[in-house]
Order: sequence, then structure tokens, then C-alpha cells
Amino acid sequence: MSDYIIKTNRLGLRNWQVSDIKPTTKMNADKAVREFFPNTMSQLKTESFIKNMQQHFTTYGYCYFAVDELATNEFIGFIGLSNQTFKSDFTPCVDIGWRLLSKFWGNGYATEGALACINFAFRTLKLKEVYAIAPELNLKSQRVMQKIGMSKYIHFVHPKIDKNNPLKNCVAYRSLRSDHKFNRNDSL
Ligand SMILES: CC(C)(COP(=O)(O)OP(=O)(O)OC[C@H]1O[C@@H](n2cnc3c(N)ncnc32)[C@H](O)[C@@H]1OP(=O)(O)O)[C@@H](O)C(=O)NCCC(=O)NCCS
Repeated sequence: MSDYIIKTNRLGLRNWQVSDIKPTTKMNADKAVREFFPNTMSQLKTESFIKNMQQHFTTYGYCYFAVDELATNEFIGFIGLSNQTFKSDFTPCVDIGWRLLSKFWGNGYATEGALACINFAFRTLKLKEVYAIAPELNLKSQRVMQKIGMSKYIHFVHPKIDKNNPLKNCVAYRSLRSDHKFNRNDSL
């Protein structure tokens, strides 16, 4: 039985555990999952990512949460909140992000988990605003942002992506607590 920080109808969001390393490594090595990233990720980098997330959770009480499908107890990827400090007009900020194993795409899971995270950010963490970022080319991710009620905020050039890579052209969406409709899908 896992300790879920957030539960929705179909998903449990929790801190990371050792058993997540294997499926996360598989996810991060999948070219389809990494279509809108500069490269795939090795097991070593994945382990370091998971450690960072655990530390982030210990320090702040949130991270990109590991997500289980409640019906099967299967790990499906991550959805959650993280501090972003790269240089831009809107950072430092808290962003909401998501990455799922491809076999779980198309079920509305990212939208369901992300909406619960936004509610958590505003209600429990009392944040005033949350951002989400994606390369302009990643329309699927932007669709999730739109579906959870975020609005396009700014186009920007990501300072950590090579200047010759079209993925450097990014867009940030924003959600303000003052505008947020908490009853959109209140599954907390
Ligand atoms: C982005 C991701 C998390 C979405 O997960 P998901 O659970 O399939 O998302 P949902 O089912 O909640 O919603 C996806 C929406 O995008 C739409 N969509 C799918 N492909 C699309 C495309 N090429 N262009 C525009 N919209 C698209 C879907 O139709 C759906 O919208 P709808 O419900 O209005 O029909 C998943 O595809 C993923 O992990 N991708 C790889 C990692 C990634 O890109 N992360 C984001 C980095 S910025």
C-alpha cells in the first residue's frame, strides 16, 4: 500500500521509490517519449533525476510525483510540480510537468493528474501561480495545459537548449490561483 500525496479517480501520486528506476529508465530511453527533448536519457541520469526528485520532495513537500494507475498498481510515469530556476522572464517559478510511458497515453491520465496537482498547488501549497513549459512543437503537451485551464503566457528561447535546435523555441503557460476553477474535476 503506497502513501499517496494526491489521489484522483484513477491515479495515485507519490514520492519516488527504488522500484521506479527500471520503468523510468525504459520511459526515458523511448524515442517516442523523448520526441520533444534534445536526447534520450541513460539509466545513470534517470537515477540522478529520481534522487533529485526525492530531495525536492523532502525540502519542499512536492516534486514531479511518481504516478501509479490505481486499478493495476502499475507505475505509469510522473506528473507533478517542480521549482524552475533557469534564466527567463518568468523564473524562478513552480512549474507543472508530466511524462508517461507511451502505453498509457491517450487515456486522459496527464490531464487528470495535472488538474489534481494544480488544485494541490493552490489549495495545499497556497501558491499564487503555476507555470508549464513546452517546446512550441509539442502541441500534445500544450493541449494538456489548455485542458487544465492554463493560458498561454509567453514565448521564449530556452537558455539550456542548443541555439541550433528548434526545440529551443518554447512556450510558457500560466495558471493563477485567483482565476482557477477548483470545481473543474475536484478529485482531491
Ligand atoms: C504529453 C503526455 C504526458 C500526454 O499524456 P496523455 O495522458 O496521453 O494526455 P491526455 O490524454 O490527458 O491528453 C492529451 C491531449 O492531447 C491531444 N493530442 C494528442 N496528440 C496531439 C497532437 N499531435 N497535437 C495536438 N493535440 C494532441 C489529445 O487528443 C488529448 O486532447 P483531447 O482530450 O482534447 O483529445 C504524453 O504524451 C507524454 O508523456 N509525452 C512524452 C513526454 C512529454 O512530451 N512531456 C511533456 C514535455 S513538455
